[in-house]
Amino acid sequence: MNSREPIGVFDSGVGGLTVVKEIFRQLPQENLIYVGDNARCPYGSRPPQQVREFAFEIMDFLLEFGVKMIIIACNTATAASLSEAKNRYAVPVLGVITPGSRAAISATRTGRIGVIGTEVTVSTGAYAREIHRINPRLQVVSQACPPFVPIVEEGTIHSPQTEQAVAQYLAPLQREMIDTLILGCTHYPLLQPVIQKVLGEQVQLISSAEETAREASLILAERNLLNDHNMRPVHRFFTSGDRNLFSRIAERWLGQPVAVESWDLQALSK
Ligand code: DGL
Repeated sequence: MNSREPIGVFDSGVGGLTVVKEIFRQLPQENLIYVGDNARCPYGSRPPQQVREFAFEIMDFLLEFGVKMIIIACNTATAASLSEAKNRYAVPVLGVITPGSRAAISATRTGRIGVIGTEVTVSTGAYAREIHRINPRLQVVSQACPPFVPIVEEGTIHSPQTEQAVAQYLAPLQREMIDTLILGCTHYPLLQPVIQKVLGEQVQLISSAEETAREASLILAERNLLNDHNMRPVHRFFTSGDRNLFSRIAERWLGQPVAVESWDLQALSK
């Protein structure tokens, strides 16, 4: 069976590109449509109800391309909309919180797991709930880090102020002696070198990207939806924000040229 329909992937901005990079690595044959809602980013400090509405708008747009699967490559939108999205759409919808939780559970040796994320992700307690559903004996401490997303979106990763902000927000988790830290926002892997430097090599950093791509691959295989056609895959990237800024960050992260199209938010109200 050969299913050439694209996989739909979205985030509030460039963070979901961390998941895209893993999809390119693990599923190189797949066609893909990405939407970054940069104009309305960050989602992380908005009311969850609004994040859910935005997420549905994007998923409806992705379905216009006939996507065979949707990956919510955003922890905030996963926390706010995944369970409803699964009922609303006929195609499989995948979030990043379950895969990230699983990866952390298998990585921890001391049973002390830290989670960093946006205010919405941390306030919904989605990670702690998911981890405890699988293994109630583990200790989970969480910390919201609101400045991290703007740092990544503005592309100011390598500045002394960034290191200072990272050190300040991670200090409470260091005091809790965690051995594993979930990067519970898809923007954060872009800050990985700074986070690792602040925490030291003894703390393992978990990005849900790898595990999410693996899960996508399993689901597609199970449902006979993998694209085993030999044609060069087509990848399309849309942003509601600045196309140049998006393509600069995307090209650096993905290591290849990225043509970016506009997703017109105004068309939504028509
Ligand atoms: N990248 C998103 C996440 O994984 C959200 C960033 C934001 O818009 O606040 O949570």
